[in-house]
Amino acid sequence: MAQLPPMATILPKMRLVTLMLLLLAVCLPAADPPRIWDDEALKDWATPVAALGVRPGHYSAAEYYAIPGDNLKTYPVYHPNREPKGYWEWLQKQRPEPLVDASKIRSARDWAAAGQRAFEDLDNVFFRTDDPKLIARARDPEAFKDVFLLPDGSIIGNRWVVTEKGVVLGERECALCHVQFTPSGTVAFGGPAGVEPAGATDRNPAGVNLVPLAYTRFFPGDNFLVALWRSYTVPWNPDPRVEALKEKMTHPPGALFVGDPGTFARFHGSPWAQTKVPDLRGIRYSRYIDASGTHRMRGAEDLARYAAFVNGADPMTFGDHQILTPAQRKIRLRYADEVLYAIGMYLMSLDAPKNPNPAPDARSAAGQKVFQREGCISCHVPPDYTSGKLTLAQGYNPPADHPNADDIVRLSVGTDPELAMRTRKGTGFYKIPTLRGVWTRTRLLHDGSVASLEEMFDPARVQPDHVPGGWKGPAGDRRGIPGHPFGLKLTPEEKAALLAFLRTL
Ligand code: HEC
Ligand code: HEC
Repeated sequence: MAQLPPMATILPKMRLVTLMLLLLAVCLPAADPPRIWDDEALKDWATPVAALGVRPGHYSAAEYYAIPGDNLKTYPVYHPNREPKGYWEWLQKQRPEPLVDASKIRSARDWAAAGQRAFEDLDNVFFRTDDPKLIARARDPEAFKDVFLLPDGSIIGNRWVVTEKGVVLGERECALCHVQFTPSGTVAFGGPAGVEPAGATDRNPAGVNLVPLAYTRFFPGDNFLVALWRSYTVPWNPDPRVEALKEKMTHPPGALFVGDPGTFARFHGSPWAQTKVPDLRGIRYSRYIDASGTHRMRGAEDLARYAAFVNGADPMTFGDHQILTPAQRKIRLRYADEVLYAIGMYLMSLDAPKNPNPAPDARSAAGQKVFQREGCISCHVPPDYTSGKLTLAQGYNPPADHPNADDIVRLSVGTDPELAMRTRKGTGFYKIPTLRGVWTRTRLLHDGSVASLEEMFDPARVQPDHVPGGWKGPAGDRRGIPGHPFGLKLTPEEKAALLAFLRTL
C-alpha cells in the first residue's frame, strides 16, 4: 500500500466501484508464472523434420531447471553526447534489478505490460562483456557516426546491464531483429523488418561487434567458422556451400546472416534459404510458429517456450544426429520463467495494426469480391485471414499418420522448397500466413523475396529475368520467384481493387 496516495485525498474523487476494484487488485496475490519448460506440453510441441520423420529433441524439464534463470534489467546505451547528465555515474551506483518482477504482477494486463519491457529490453546473456576496451568504445562519440539513434539518443544494438560484478556491455535480443523503421524516424519493435532508415543504419557503435564473442561462447571449443557451420549444417543431407564454411569465409560475414535488411539466417536455417523477420503483431492468429511451422502455437506459453528455444534451450539433436559436441549440448543458459511468460503474454496481446489510410470503400469492396472469386478465402479464411493450416512444400508427401495431420492441407502453393525441405527447419510445410496487417509488410513470402503487394501479384515475378524486390537469393540478382500463382491473372482494375482490399485488413 505504500505507493498509494493517502486515501483521504483520492476517496471523494472515486466512484465506489472503481475503489473496490482497486482494493481488489491490491489485495490479489501476485501471480506466479506457469512452468514454461513442461514435459507434457513439450511432447508434441515440435513438428517432425520431414526427411527424418522424427521431432527435434529437447531438454527434459529436470535438465532445464538445473541451472538458475537469468532475469536482469538492462539500460539504454546513448550516443555519448546525448547521455542524460550524470547518467554514467548514476549507472555505476545501481544494484542488479529484475527485468520482470513477478511480485508486482496481478493481471493479464500486468503480464503484457511487463512483457513489452522484457521483449524490448531483454539482452542476450552470451553477448555480455566487461572488456574495458569495448566499454570505452561504446562511450566514444567517434564510434557513433553511422549509428541509428532512437528519438531519445539511445541506440538499438547495445544495452548496459547492471550485474553483481558491475556494469557490463550487452546486446539487445528480440528487438534487435524484430524492429520496423517507420518513415517518421521512429521504430516499432515487433513490427516487420525490411526497410532500413535513410542515413545512419548501424545498430552498434563502430568496432563493437560482439557476435564472434557470443558465437564462441555459445559453441565452446569452436572457432567462429566452425560455429557458423554448426549453426546450419544438415548431417543427413549436407549442403556443400554450408560445408565449405567450416574452412573459409565464403561471403562477407554480414551477407551470411543478413542477406537483406528484412531477412536473417537463424540457427537451423541456412544463409542460402533465409527467412524474413516477420511481423509479430498478429502471431495470435497463427497456430504454428515460424514460416515452416517448426512448433505449435497454442498460446502465450508456447511463445515463451519459443523465446527460450531460440536462446539456447535447444540441444540440437535430431534422432541419431547430434549437431553439438557433448560440452556444447549441456544447457548453459536459461531465462527466468517470469521473463519468458511475460514476453509470451505480450506477444499474444498484440494485434495487427489497422491501415490509417485505406482506399475508398467502393474499390476495396470490389477487391473483396475478387478475393472471394479467386479462392483466396479457402486458405486466408476471414476473419483471421488464415485457416492456421500447413501447406506442403513442393516435393513433400507426409505420411497419413503424421502427428499434425489435422492441420495439413494436402496441396502445395509451390514456393521455393529449400527451407522446408533441405534445412534443419525442414518440416516439409509452409504455414498459411495471416493477411491481417499485410499492408504494413515490406517483405512477403517466407524468404522475403517479394517486396510489395504489387510485386506479389505481378505475373512477371515468376519469369527468370525478374529482379526480386526483396531477398535476392544465392543465385544473384535475376531469378523468378516461383509459386503462389493465385491472383496472377487479373485485369489491372481487378488487381488494383484486390490490393486496395488487402490494404484494409
Ligand atoms: C537475429 C535476429 C532475431 C532475433 C534476435 C530474434 N528473432 Fe524472432 N525471428 C527472426 C526470424 C528471421 C524469424 C523467422 C524464422 C522462420 O520463419 O523460420 C523469427 C521468428 C519469430 C517468431 C515466429 C513468428 C511467426 O510468424 O511464426 C516469433 C514468435 C519470434 N521470432 C519471437 C522472438 C522473440 C521473443 C525473440 C527474443 C527472445 C526473438 N524472436 C529474437 C529473427 C530474430
Ligand atoms: C492453397 C492455399 C492458398 C490460397 C488459395 C492462397 N494463398 Fe496466399 N499464401 C498461402 C501460403 C501457404 C503462403 C505462404 C507461402 C510461403 O511463405 O512460401 C501465402 C502467402 C500469401 C501472401 C504473402 C503474405 C506474407 O506475409 O508473406 C499474400 C499477400 C497472399 N498469400 C495473398 C493471397 C491472395 C490475395 C490469394 C488469392 C488471390 C491467395 N493468397 C490465395 C496460401 C494460399
